[in-house]
Amino acid sequence: MKELYLTKKFESTAVNTFRLSDTPPIFVRGEGPWLFTEDNQKYLDLVCGSATTNLGHNHPSQKFAISEALKSGIFHTGTRLISPLRSELYSSLSHFLGLEDISIHLANSGSEAIETAIKLSRFLSGNERIIAFEGGYHGRTLGALSVTHSEKIRLPFIGKIGDFVSFSQYPRDNTEVDMCLEKCERQLNHYVKHDQPIAAILVEPIQGVSGVWGPYPAFLQGLEEIAKKNKSLLIVDEIWSGMGRSGKNFSYQYSNISPDLIVIGKGLSASLPLSAVIAKGDLLKRWGAGSHTSTFQGNPIACAAACATIKEIKDTDLVTHVNEIIEPCFSKFKKDLRNITTVKDVRFVGAQCAITFDNSDLANQIQNDTMEKAKILTYGGGMNGECVMVLPPINISGKILSTALTQLLELISEMSNHN
Ligand SMILES: Cc1ncc(COP(=O)(O)O)c(C=O)c1O
Repeated sequence: MKELYLTKKFESTAVNTFRLSDTPPIFVRGEGPWLFTEDNQKYLDLVCGSATTNLGHNHPSQKFAISEALKSGIFHTGTRLISPLRSELYSSLSHFLGLEDISIHLANSGSEAIETAIKLSRFLSGNERIIAFEGGYHGRTLGALSVTHSEKIRLPFIGKIGDFVSFSQYPRDNTEVDMCLEKCERQLNHYVKHDQPIAAILVEPIQGVSGVWGPYPAFLQGLEEIAKKNKSLLIVDEIWSGMGRSGKNFSYQYSNISPDLIVIGKGLSASLPLSAVIAKGDLLKRWGAGSHTSTFQGNPIACAAACATIKEIKDTDLVTHVNEIIEPCFSKFKKDLRNITTVKDVRFVGAQCAITFDNSDLANQIQNDTMEKAKILTYGGGMNGECVMVLPPINISGKILSTALTQLLELISEMSNHN
């Protein structure tokens, strides 16, 4: 197969193409939650390009918006020129957040948006140190990697450049909230005492990649208080859990807080590369022109896709769909898995579910079997790859999802009998 040969010959091995299989299926067409191979074999996509294609594939609203944008003949301008589609996105985002007094900076990937948030917080405060959290994932560029906790993915690349980050404990249930807040405050005071005040506290309101932890509303509220008291910014990373996936428009909304910076990506366009930092008030208007530019930021076609995605989430009330249709499927799934000994835990919030196994080998094996036998694509996550994660489009029908979960249940129990 030409595609397989060319990919194997040229592609950087740093990406995940051959992580599960040496001959992964090659998809040539997508429709809703389904992906199709050239010989028309149909797979259910419960990965969604890493929690991104929230409306599934080939969504008519996105397709129409992208086609209309293409008709203008302007595929790229950069931010030296005003773009009607970029300005429309600013307005859409403001309505979607329910916040009028905000400023917005667009970028191309989640990591780039995290870099932007770190850089802004350091510029505004004049301080360098960032507090991030154990289990947190924020991306792989050097700044974003510095605040990503996993030693396996961080240490080979980050030496002294990561010295500006301190990792604090993230609760694993509500009983740990007070202890984690105390630890965070103690850590912060330690650095203040040693003349290293904190620029920002950076947190995922729900930790996604590391296996769906949270939300812990009192933890977020406590962090907000600590940040305020110390004149540090509170940055919430909504790249994974935002845009409806958590069962709220944004997962920080479980906590009744008002973060200084909200970072989004993935489901913002739910298709083309686009991310954003949204700041309270004029925080993003205090740096000078050209302080932080990037050639492709605010690409008009990606902005058109994002406007269509936001409209679709609102018009079809997808957040209610997540809460009333998707979550109950996961709730039943968790009950069905309770007697399977190889399953250590099942956690879910909104349209994301993590099934924890003893080790990553077993989780990989289940993912592989699920792909080959049931033609269902699942995601590998967890602190050490020990989770199989189900990340459906947030508009998936209850029938398709529950059928897939039944198949997954059968495979997991069959596999458990052999282990
Ligand atoms: C919470 C969170 N932050 C940041 C990122 C990095 O985003 P990107 O892969 O678009 O750079 C991710 C990606 O999975 C994420 O889940």
